[in-house]
Amino acid sequence: MITIALAKGRLADQTLDLLEQLGIDCREIRGESRKLIFTTNDGAIRFILVKPSDVPAYVEYGTADIGIAGKDTLLEEGRSLYEMLDLRFGCCRLVVAGYAGRKINGITNSLTRVATKYPNIARNFYAGRGESVEIIKLNGSVELGPLTGLSDVIVDIVESGRTLEENGLVVLEEICPVSARLVVNQVSLKTKHDEIRKIIEGLRELTEGKADDSRN
Ligand code: PRP
Repeated sequence: MITIALAKGRLADQTLDLLEQLGIDCREIRGESRKLIFTTNDGAIRFILVKPSDVPAYVEYGTADIGIAGKDTLLEEGRSLYEMLDLRFGCCRLVVAGYAGRKINGITNSLTRVATKYPNIARNFYAGRGESVEIIKLNGSVELGPLTGLSDVIVDIVESGRTLEENGLVVLEEICPVSARLVVNQVSLKTKHDEIRKIIEGLRELTEGKADDSRN
């Protein structure tokens, strides 16, 4: 049996769409149930539904053989696992955002304050440029940072750009692109090689086919 950790939330529907195209029956998972563990009728695959930021932990420890999570989560969590496939959905960008014209190395002597759900990504980004900043970890609606004066800027994901726009903020700097990735436990890749390869190759064909279609 292969255990797959699925991120609840913004990646969930498209992940289930892909798995259904592989012939895996996901109807029960899509239902209204509050169950957190589902097993396919043939007993071949078990799904665990986890908070997105917890997917890497389940995969690193081998509780799940496979996980599907955003690149933002993988960078933030920094877990030991194999990133095997870019699934090419859930595309967005990690950015620094704030009020237009905001100087990152401000004219005041105080440290730039950065509000974010991604403290490790933010710390690494600024450390890589030799800049000292004060990181304020928030758990959501981080756009409120500059709006309320809690922070100077935010490090966050931007998808449509609507949240920034409707709150009078702009992208100041790009950090990196983000999309959903398939990750695999390092031991499982050896011990369950054939089953895992079959899933990866099936998903690779679907996602690469999708990209080819969109070019036509
Ligand atoms: C994310 C992100 C932005 C918003 C960006 O928040 O943190 O706030 O989506 O999307 P957009 O560019 O399409 O507007 P999420 O919806 O996950 O909620 P949260 O702030 O409560 O974490």
